[in-house]
Amino acid sequence: MLNAVTTFAKNLKKALLADPKRFYTVDTGAWVTGLPKSDEIQVTTGREPLWLNLGYWREVERVDENNYERVGELFKAAQAQMAHLLAKTARLGQGDVVLDCGFGYADQDILWAEEYRPARIHGLNVTPNQVRIGRERVRLTGLEKVVQLDVGSATELPFGPGGFDVVFALESAMHFKTRRDFLREAFRVLRPGGRLVMADMCQKTDREAGAGLRRRLRHRYWRGLIAFPEANVWTVQRYDTELKSVGFQNVRLESIAADVYGPVNTAFTALRMVTAASRQPGSVNPERIRAEVRKLREQDPEQYQHLSQFNCDEYVIASAEKP
Ligand SMILES: C[S@@+](CC[C@H](N)C(=O)[O-])C[C@H]1O[C@@H](n2cnc3c(N)ncnc32)[C@H](O)[C@@H]1O
Repeated sequence: MLNAVTTFAKNLKKALLADPKRFYTVDTGAWVTGLPKSDEIQVTTGREPLWLNLGYWREVERVDENNYERVGELFKAAQAQMAHLLAKTARLGQGDVVLDCGFGYADQDILWAEEYRPARIHGLNVTPNQVRIGRERVRLTGLEKVVQLDVGSATELPFGPGGFDVVFALESAMHFKTRRDFLREAFRVLRPGGRLVMADMCQKTDREAGAGLRRRLRHRYWRGLIAFPEANVWTVQRYDTELKSVGFQNVRLESIAADVYGPVNTAFTALRMVTAASRQPGSVNPERIRAEVRKLREQDPEQYQHLSQFNCDEYVIASAEKP
């Protein structure tokens, strides 16, 4: 009983702090078994996939009862597709000078540098361990002349005005304290005609307003645990207004929720069960995994993890230009 109370008190403190550095240094992997945990990572080639996003599953085989054993491979393919979608939306190409805010372990920077050939990519990330591992991977892949990674916050960019053609935030802006501060900073460092492109979680309509107190507290608790500040709980409409109020034009918010939340909801559970089975052979019966995967594939979207915990039912590719 005392243990349960202590754990709850510790979690409550984390939820109230909503600190991304703590989350990505200490906690990641604890709630999604199978995703990389910083203390488990071994870098040898620099090309081992260490993505942390939910994946863009439109063109990727979805996890089902027959292919669940390949969940790791399918998940990574979808995560790389998210990085391609951002690059294509930004019309990323040769000569572009890029700022990437919240790069995880730098998979996206290696992919963009090799496949889209921008002139330079500067990456900023608040999590020192990810920066250290990312740098090691950039060195191993021979991309040091193109990709430079530093510890820093997207909300206080250490750059002068007008130096970038493209600013990216790939599933990281929901963590920024605050997202609005980042939009102002992104606008400042972009050159006229520069493009901002983000993959981000939000709400189709204001889901907070209709929720009772108990439900609101539950979402607040879960968002705090993943370092998603309350100030960043936006509807698509709010997102559009915020981008325009900073000065951006050609604002577009394209919904890809149907190609993210459903498939990743199944993938997360399959990944947890497959990881448990591989860590302790015989501990999880394949028939149980198949039954669970089948159940999740038929689940009502109102039950999806990202909705029940964080109250997010929208996932957008947000893009905008500085006039
Ligand atoms: C969900 S992960 C996504 C990582 C990566 N984009 C990927 O797809 O693998 C979010 C990332 O945002 C970073 N982050 C959180 N707050 C930040 C901030 N204020 N400035 C820069 N990076 C931040 C985290 O350290 C983490 O690397």
